[in-house]
Amino acid sequence: MVWTSGWKLAVAAARAGALGLIGAGSMKPELLREHIRKAHATEVAAQIGVNIPLLRGDVDALIQTSLEEGIRIFFTSAGNPQAQTGRLKERGAFVAHVIASVKHALKAAQAGCDAVVAEGFEAGGHNGIDEITTLCLVPQVVDAVNIPVIAAGGIADGRQILACLALGAQAVQIGTRFAATVESSSHEAYKQAVVDADDAATVLVLKKVAPVRLKKNRFALSAFEAQQAGATKEEERLLLGHKREMQGIFEGNVEEGELEMGQSSGLIKEIRSVEETMGTLVAEYNRALIRIETMSAK
Ligand SMILES: Cc1cc2nc3c(=O)[nH]c(=O)nc-3n(C[C@H](O)[C@H](O)[C@H](O)COP(=O)(O)O)c2cc1C
Repeated sequence: MVWTSGWKLAVAAARAGALGLIGAGSMKPELLREHIRKAHATEVAAQIGVNIPLLRGDVDALIQTSLEEGIRIFFTSAGNPQAQTGRLKERGAFVAHVIASVKHALKAAQAGCDAVVAEGFEAGGHNGIDEITTLCLVPQVVDAVNIPVIAAGGIADGRQILACLALGAQAVQIGTRFAATVESSSHEAYKQAVVDADDAATVLVLKKVAPVRLKKNRFALSAFEAQQAGATKEEERLLLGHKREMQGIFEGNVEEGELEMGQSSGLIKEIRSVEETMGTLVAEYNRALIRIETMSAK
């Protein structure tokens, strides 16, 4: 995740038993190299991958740097997987691509991806244009492709992990909950904004430029009003300006920056360490499983 998942968060996630992804979307290649080296200097080097948004102008350099540094787990997003997947597969990499519709899942499978991340529009950050919920998207993608499906969007709690596995997902990808952990490189004011958010605190805006789910603040509400008034793509682009993601997530400008977070924010009540968060997720999952088993035994 941009401005959030540097090596510290990725390593903490890996230490807690997850796959840790370094978010290259807000890094120049040399900074990415530094983060990979720091993560690789730890005992969980094998559990570290990178996320690379494919629309980045320097996508080739980000991929080249990652390969040079020995990364073999790639999560690609925001773009066409056709262009890069072959190159990554030739180097023996595992490639998962983020999609938000069945059509794009099929394209990713055709491009040779090993898995897809099916992300519903509850998710924090950039979204698909079709506004499909995780509950509806995941089973349809599971039915359509023959590769593993990782569910994402709206998951911040162990009950939801169990629900996603019931839908046929093999794993889940969790964003907002980890963006608000101690180890996340996001600003404290951003983390607090997640904790303060309730179920209705987010809105999907900038649908003509690139739909993004943000916490409602001065900027997001002005983008929403412009959208409702029929703003053109160019008008949305002008309104967005530059560096709002950095201002909101990294610098903590809670009124004028973009505060990317998902609808699951209402479930996040405290800024905790990754280890505690993982412990809670597992406990919640186990309680939900027992509840279901008890119900089915009746
Ligand atoms: C602050 C933030 C930054 C994100 N940046 C990226 C990114 O750079 N690349 C990407 O593929 N997804 C990004 N995402 C999406 C997450 O990877 C994940 O799929 C999404 O947050 C899942 O939904 P959730 O927030 O409801 O857990 C970001 C999400 C957040 C909250």
